[in-house]
Amino acid sequence: VTRQTQQPEVNIGLVGHVDHGKTTLVQALSGSWTDQHSEEMKRGISIRLGYADATFRQVPGVDPPECYTVEETGPDGEETDVLRTVSFVDAPGHETLMATMLSGAAIMDGAVLVVSATEDVPQAQTEEHLMALDIIGIDNIVIAQNKIDLVDRERAVESYEQIEEFVSGTVAEDAPIIPVSAQQEVNIDLLIDAIEQEIPTPERDEGESPRLFAARSFDINRPGTTWADLKGGVVGGSVVQGNLTTGEEVELRPGREVEEGGATEWQPITTDIRSLQAGSESVDEVEPGGLCGIGTGLDPSLTKGDALAGQVAGEPGTLPPTREGFTMDVELLDRIVGEDEGSVEEISTGEPLMLTVGTATTVGSVTSARTGEAEVALKRPVCAESGAKIAINRRVGARWRLIGIGTLQ
Ligand code: GTP
Repeated sequence: VTRQTQQPEVNIGLVGHVDHGKTTLVQALSGSWTDQHSEEMKRGISIRLGYADATFRQVPGVDPPECYTVEETGPDGEETDVLRTVSFVDAPGHETLMATMLSGAAIMDGAVLVVSATEDVPQAQTEEHLMALDIIGIDNIVIAQNKIDLVDRERAVESYEQIEEFVSGTVAEDAPIIPVSAQQEVNIDLLIDAIEQEIPTPERDEGESPRLFAARSFDINRPGTTWADLKGGVVGGSVVQGNLTTGEEVELRPGREVEEGGATEWQPITTDIRSLQAGSESVDEVEPGGLCGIGTGLDPSLTKGDALAGQVAGEPGTLPPTREGFTMDVELLDRIVGEDEGSVEEISTGEPLMLTVGTATTVGSVTSARTGEAEVALKRPVCAESGAKIAINRRVGARWRLIGIGTLQ
């Protein structure tokens, strides 16, 4: 199999504190740059979930871990064998962007936690992101101890021990810790080896009707494109079950807000799949796993600026219901993680909560709170199945802080 026909088959989250080197590591593994947006460039942070595909390869006749590479040719010019293609979801480390991290977590099959050896462990988002992985239930984790080129041996050992102590008793307790330099491309083979072992491609049921969690949506037309050349809106996300095929009809829920006689209502959107993009190639069919783009027949103004991020797409009539509110079982954290920690108070009636359901993030107002249960009315509806996991955030000071996990009743 050549790289051109390889579709990404697994999503791996890159999480960790701001500036610890997530973007640089994705670059070292894939040769691409996830900071694609001008606003991100300006602010120097990955605002939206950036993503990049990487194809892991093996130099024939060489033993692991030295055999692992992302290069198409080995040291002696020999062609390398493809192992598999993975999608990296590059979650932002900036403190206010926890919601984006959590929406990304919904489509992650495993994660690489990047921890810089130059700073004490844990930094605020190192802890917050690990907690998020824990509550979302992502336990296939590899820890990349990054920037080892910047520290001496003594500090490298100290940092390693700090990491061990920090993850003890968490979901990452048994995760391998791989010392790397993303920038100098040191130990990338060891990191690939660990990812291959710890983050296997999950078994998928391809017989089910297709379902995609949208993480992005955009308008790919340049300003001033004439009507005749206008391309339909694009939706990017991850197929979680079934296969999507070009030509087929899909429904998106919740869809769009339509005004009728003074009242507004959310109506599902139906469109057809004009093109599919996976592993930077145009394909006719997309299988579960990895990230893909769907070219639709929609007016690009509908998909512009992530307008459809958080929606669910699938065969018309098969999607979960659109919910304007719901009741959830609530499990609160003992304390707020990250900076200015404090204990978590019970949820109270009337308080606003920020909820992440699948790839959707919405604000809800608590209409009724009981111990272990809360009923919320949502500002923006979500399409979600009963049993879906919900990340619950409360406003503490100027920020939304993760306070617990909910299960949709
Ligand atoms: P956000 O996307 O803003 O959360 O940051 P990030 O975690 O993606 O960090 P990024 O990859 O942007 O790296 C931050 C800075 O550290 C950049 O200036 C990188 O060049 C530098 N850097 C990353 N990895 C290494 C490394 O292994 N060694 C050295 N010396 N510098 C590194």
